[in-house]
Amino acid sequence: MSASPPLIEVRQLRKFFGPATHPVRAVDDVSFTIEQGETLGLVGESGSGKSTIGRALLRLVEPSAGQVLYRGEDLGAASGSRMRALRRQLQMIFQDPYASLNPKMRVRDILGEALQVHGLAPGRAARQQRIAELLQLVGLQPEHAERYPHEFSGGQRQRIGVARALSVEPEFIVADEPLSALDVSIQAQVINLLLDLRERFALTMLFISHDLDVVEYLCDRVVVLYLGRVMEVGPTAELFARPLHPYTQALLAASPKPDPTVPITHVPLQGDIPSPVNPPSGCVFRTRCPSAVDACAQQRPEPRVVASGRLKACLRDDIAGMTLP
Ligand SMILES: Nc1ncnc2c1ncn2[C@@H]1O[C@H](COP(=O)(O)OP(=O)(O)OP(=O)(O)O)[C@@H](O)[C@H]1O
Ligand SMILES: [Mg+2]
Repeated sequence: MSASPPLIEVRQLRKFFGPATHPVRAVDDVSFTIEQGETLGLVGESGSGKSTIGRALLRLVEPSAGQVLYRGEDLGAASGSRMRALRRQLQMIFQDPYASLNPKMRVRDILGEALQVHGLAPGRAARQQRIAELLQLVGLQPEHAERYPHEFSGGQRQRIGVARALSVEPEFIVADEPLSALDVSIQAQVINLLLDLRERFALTMLFISHDLDVVEYLCDRVVVLYLGRVMEVGPTAELFARPLHPYTQALLAASPKPDPTVPITHVPLQGDIPSPVNPPSGCVFRTRCPSAVDACAQQRPEPRVVASGRLKACLRDDIAGMTLP
């Protein structure tokens, strides 16, 4: 008996931008899986490669190397027509709901376009009904179909973005910072909408965010990225309760819990993230790592299983056989 493949598998994904002599190493040898029904969080500082990975998963950017598999099928080997069919299963919710909605299109055309491309709800009447249904699904009114994006608030625009992603009944959604352009007061509403729809349609998600609290709330597992490399992977509750990698520890220290009885023991991050054109040798985090030793400049640590379901890319265990505080 063989287990079915994960819904999404990323294998040694690499994406370099710019000239081959000194490229931007946006994503450098990243691997992870997403099981059906799972929400995987992708966190890391600005420029760590989160959006590039999200886009590569949907083949909105062409990987420089490595593979993305959907139900075991290599997207890179899919023909044009196969990829168009697969696109229906793989959708994206963008950070800026204004920039991602064509301002010259009415909502009905924004939603109708996706339906038409995939031959869904054919015919004017069926399409109109489906659009009304989609608007209601995201908490808007059927009358909103006649309006243009600028006639909505930020939160409502993000609801339209969600409706567009869901219009084709996808299995998998990449949500790239879907809350960060919204007022804090609106964020909770959109989070609840995403939770509700995830439940209702058994969606699998990659949730990209800076906001660790939201990731902790929404995600089953988390991948921590730094300079295009995976630092740590683990189930959300365990990773937040006991981060294993010095970078994860620093990230969590930088966003302390309001609970004053929990002492902050980790050292917060010092200095700036190095340039991805010229990443440090060995471990890319070593220049900011409070635990770095000489060997960290020589050897590039790969993520390894250090406990059940938990991966960490750090040499310190290899050298000293220790668990960092
Ligand atoms: N089209 C592109 N051409 C050149 N460089 C790019 C391109 N897209 C991204 N990059 C670079 O790749 C690196 C990773 O970018 P990416 O947008 O994936 O990071 P991110 O983690 O999503 O950051 P943020 O949190 O700011 O959204 C950055 O150094 C970025 O400048
Ligand atoms: Mg991004």
